[in-house]
Amino acid sequence: ISLKNYNTFGIDVNAKRFISIRSVHELQQLVVKEKSIFLISGGSNMLLTKDIDDLVVHINTEGICIDREDENSVYLTVNSGENWHDFVLWCIDQNYGGIENLSLIPGNVGTCPIQNIGAYGVEVKDVITKVEAVSIETGKLVQFSNTECKFGYRNSIFKNEVKGKYIITSVSFKLTKKDHVLNTSYGAIETELASKNITNPTIKNVSDAVIAIRQSKLPDPKEIGNSGSFFKNPVISISLFENLKEQFPNIPSYPVSDEEIKVPAGWLIEQSGFKGKRFGDYGVHEKQALVLVNYGNASGKDIYKLAQQIQNTIKENFKIDLEIEVNVI
Ligand code: EPU
Repeated sequence: ISLKNYNTFGIDVNAKRFISIRSVHELQQLVVKEKSIFLISGGSNMLLTKDIDDLVVHINTEGICIDREDENSVYLTVNSGENWHDFVLWCIDQNYGGIENLSLIPGNVGTCPIQNIGAYGVEVKDVITKVEAVSIETGKLVQFSNTECKFGYRNSIFKNEVKGKYIITSVSFKLTKKDHVLNTSYGAIETELASKNITNPTIKNVSDAVIAIRQSKLPDPKEIGNSGSFFKNPVISISLFENLKEQFPNIPSYPVSDEEIKVPAGWLIEQSGFKGKRFGDYGVHEKQALVLVNYGNASGKDIYKLAQQIQNTIKENFKIDLEIEVNVI
């Protein structure tokens, strides 16, 4: 079958064999039987460049369970196949706070820990208590505490030590029921709330602001294929940054430590003239240079070639190595 509708980039590659999984039990039985499998969940963080020979396993388990709650907090476990944004909206309806800044991020709940999704000053690691996963080798269920997940910026143990070894089946969260700690420090959120004259925002107000900001900058995968930020924002040494600042006085940055500083990749790519550039069916998004897009029938190879061209140019112009954030298959 074609995987075009199973990846947000809308890349048309084929799977020889495909199975949609609706229960953890089914998954446990499958992994011990099958030698190699290729997992697909929301398909929102991958660039497919070729047909897939392994059995493609689509994780389609649903359900939200309230494990316990007290006066201030609620503890939830959510099955991997739940759509992330639908879960965020459900939480806002229940007045559960903590993930409102992560509104409208494509993908499913099961993949949110892998790259520790983050936006507008919040990372999902701040609210995850536990991740449950099936070992591909043994079929057994294993739990990872928040610490064991080794979360970092767009990073976790699932991208490193145990990459390809587990299938995440559920994620547990601790959210607030009252006295929500809102994070509105991100400039764009402040501006958006001010434009609506909101001085005492609710979690719903923050979510609406994030949705408005994202819709104004980021392409909707249903309309234009994409995988969000294609690159990570690079962390560079202060000494390189000081050199660059002489040449480019306007270079934006975010503090990291005494030795390092983070620079927005979108700025570097825009300065290099790629923003809004279109090459046939693919290109660089016109409103956010960090996002590569598929306008119709681009191949994964085309987009990967463009990514490499961007990496080479950034290296030449700024001496910075841009790291790809999405999984290139
Ligand atoms: N910028 C440009 N040109 C561009 C894009 C950005 O000059 O085309 C500069 C601007 O100076 C702007 C700064 O970059 O002030 C930051 O831009 P923006 O607020 O759009 O955020 P970002 O750093 O480009 C990151 C995340 C996004 C997340 C936003 C908001 C990464 C790799 N990306 O982007 O995450 O939504 O911050 O928090 O960290 C994703 O991972 O898929 C994603 C969309």
